[in-house]
Amino acid sequence: MKLRHYHHHLLLLLLCCSFTETIEPISTSIAVGVAAALTGFLARYQNIFHYFQECCRPEWISFNKTALQADLESKLFGQHVASRIILKAVNGFMTNDNPKKPLVLSLHGWTGTGKNFVSGLIADSVYKEGMDSRFVHVFTSELHFPHASQIDNYKSQLQQWIKGNVTNCERSMFIFDEMDKMHPGLIDSIKPYLDYYDKLDGVSYRKAIFIFLSNAGGDSIIQTALDFWKEGRNREEMELKDLETSLSLSVFNNKKSGLWHTSLIDKNLVDFFVPFLPLEYCHVVQCALSAMADRELEPDLKVADQVARDLVYFPKSERIFSVKGCKTIDSKLDYYT
Ligand SMILES: Nc1ncnc2c1ncn2[C@@H]1O[C@H](COP(=O)(O)OP(=O)(O)OP(=O)(O)O)[C@@H](O)[C@H]1O
Ligand SMILES: [Mg+2]
Repeated sequence: MKLRHYHHHLLLLLLCCSFTETIEPISTSIAVGVAAALTGFLARYQNIFHYFQECCRPEWISFNKTALQADLESKLFGQHVASRIILKAVNGFMTNDNPKKPLVLSLHGWTGTGKNFVSGLIADSVYKEGMDSRFVHVFTSELHFPHASQIDNYKSQLQQWIKGNVTNCERSMFIFDEMDKMHPGLIDSIKPYLDYYDKLDGVSYRKAIFIFLSNAGGDSIIQTALDFWKEGRNREEMELKDLETSLSLSVFNNKKSGLWHTSLIDKNLVDFFVPFLPLEYCHVVQCALSAMADRELEPDLKVADQVARDLVYFPKSERIFSVKGCKTIDSKLDYYT
């Protein structure tokens, strides 16, 4: 019984996980022999195991375009530009069997407009476990890399970490939050992984997804949205090309944000710059309604309206955009219900 148990694990290890180091020929042939001998016996059990334990396999990782599209349409409010780019970008990448480089998305915009939220939706559409997947990794510069003096340590740790994780599963996702607060040296250290390399030290990074989140360029996005509003044009008419030029200019010229010191941009390592628009009163109402639905409360438009009206909006004279976007809406509900 014990022996069976052991073999079971050995085979599952072989089936499930890739080894981080090169396997020697002798141990390989032993392993292959053991695996072959047990395959018949265990064939029936293997699916059961994959059913319970997350693996780097299609049972756990497979892109669902319909789900992503439905989520973007029904859960994300006021972000028609971002929504379109993300669906196209992720779909194009995930349906390509042989991508030339990893997918690199850079999400920009004012606070509380849905950047982390969308990253979660993307994770949900690729990984069965969504953000809880062990193949999804989130870095926050101020949390994980707080001390500038430690930068050399952080650099090698980060590189090891990325390499280890991609070796373990080529379909890994890395989310870098607060990218604008990240040390330029750290960003430089991940650059090779984003580039068009077939392999680096025997590891291919071309199926990984990198998502950078920042507020950089938020001001220029707001300016464009405000211009549209002042001209009496519909927000939904806004297209990427209306935002693109001023976004990239403001990102380039922002000396404060680390990302832009580096050659990420001029080397074209970022595949898509995704602008997030500032949210208006009506979007905040939608956020409040969906927060109620999440709590399995009866949607109450009166309460939603009250929550939205009590927020602060800018610019001072026009009061169009929510200062905190949809952030804190959820916790505000406690107060109003
Ligand atoms: N456009 C949106 N549509 C639906 N819900 C949203 C949207 N924007 C924000 N929310 C809600 O507000 C919460 C906070 O948003 P999120 O954390 O994604 O903001 P952010 O853009 O990452 O802000 P920051 O720049 O401050 O990190 C989300 O969890 C979500 O519930
Ligand atoms: Mg965020």
